[in-house]
Amino acid sequence: MPANLQIILAQRPTPGPLTPQDFRSQETPIPVPGPGEFRVKVAYVSLDPAMRGWVSDAKSYVPPVPVGDVMRAYAVGIVDASEHVGFKVGDAVQGLFGVQSYAISNGRRVVKVDATAAPLERWVGGLGMPGWTAYFGLLDVGKPKAGETVVVSAASGAVGSVVGQIAKIRGARAVGIAGGPQKCRDLVQLFGFDSAIDYKKAGWVDDLKAACPQGIDVYFENVGGEMLDAVLPLMNIFGRIPVCGLIAGYNAREAMLGPKNFRAILTQRLRVQGLIVFDWNDRIPEASAALGAWHKEGRLKIREDVRTGGLPAFAETLNLLYSGGNNGKLVLKV
Ligand SMILES: NC(=O)c1ccc[n+]([C@@H]2O[C@H](COP(=O)([O-])OP(=O)(O)OC[C@H]3O[C@@H](n4cnc5c(N)ncnc54)[C@H](OP(=O)(O)O)[C@@H]3O)[C@@H](O)[C@H]2O)c1
Repeated sequence: MPANLQIILAQRPTPGPLTPQDFRSQETPIPVPGPGEFRVKVAYVSLDPAMRGWVSDAKSYVPPVPVGDVMRAYAVGIVDASEHVGFKVGDAVQGLFGVQSYAISNGRRVVKVDATAAPLERWVGGLGMPGWTAYFGLLDVGKPKAGETVVVSAASGAVGSVVGQIAKIRGARAVGIAGGPQKCRDLVQLFGFDSAIDYKKAGWVDDLKAACPQGIDVYFENVGGEMLDAVLPLMNIFGRIPVCGLIAGYNAREAMLGPKNFRAILTQRLRVQGLIVFDWNDRIPEASAALGAWHKEGRLKIREDVRTGGLPAFAETLNLLYSGGNNGKLVLKV
């Protein structure tokens, strides 16, 4: 008999990479929606760097996933039973459905998606939360102007690849920092960046300097640590740094040290602002419309890295993000 396979947080993970022991799987009866609810048959679970923070009890922007609960995750799927007037069987939907094969929802923060306009998995990638993050983080916080230089780290990933392409659409120069020659080639040839810097290569900071002859106006920060140290001295006066992510520190066993070149924030009068995509929840339709239109016009290329190991492979697949083992938006096929 079919069941609902769920990935449960088994213990509070200690600092460092997540281990398979941090999670366990369980099978429960397929849930039945009550009045005002619907059921989603999940097709793809989104694997996001933030998941490392969601299972930690350090102070954050959302409460930690309780031990014993289904692991929190964005996912996309199809409504297969409904007692909700706004959602009918067959609707394709995206939301925080968790790492499980079936989810019950009351529709809160669920977005209907158009499965005919793009493959389902894209709606948890460049057309979903990572795309919204790139859109609001770059345009509302980074505020690039035509002719300015925008640098983004983790540039070939889900958020970074969209950031660079929106920068280009807005008439700025886009320079991406990524790990390895293939990812760097893709940045220029596939995503249309003006330049790509391989931070795993010796002398990459000089390469970055050479790629930004007019300095850097916007640095979209996805990584932190040594990368921020390298970029800060190249920032122009009144530059902006949207701090979107600090992935270099997510698996650190000790607290990350602050930037060595903090002085540049004073001397260059930089604006450094953290951002969490949830803050723009009421403007998701705006981002979705813009990203969808650019994608349709062929101006926004989006790539997913779909893994087929199934839900039990959740922890080991997630860990790929922290070593650069993914190439595009990482999703798990259910
Ligand atoms: N603030 C928000 O609301 C929000 C929302 C979504 C995502 N984010 C953040 O955005 C960033 C990117 O997320 P994503 O979903 O788009 O992931 P992604 O870029 O698709 O995948 C993560 C990439 O980070 C790079 N990376 C990992 N460890 C690194 C290290 N120590 N140094 C340098 N690069 C490293 C790897 O690329 P390389 O092979 O190039 O090293 C890896 O492929 C993350 O920091 C994430 O937390 C924030």
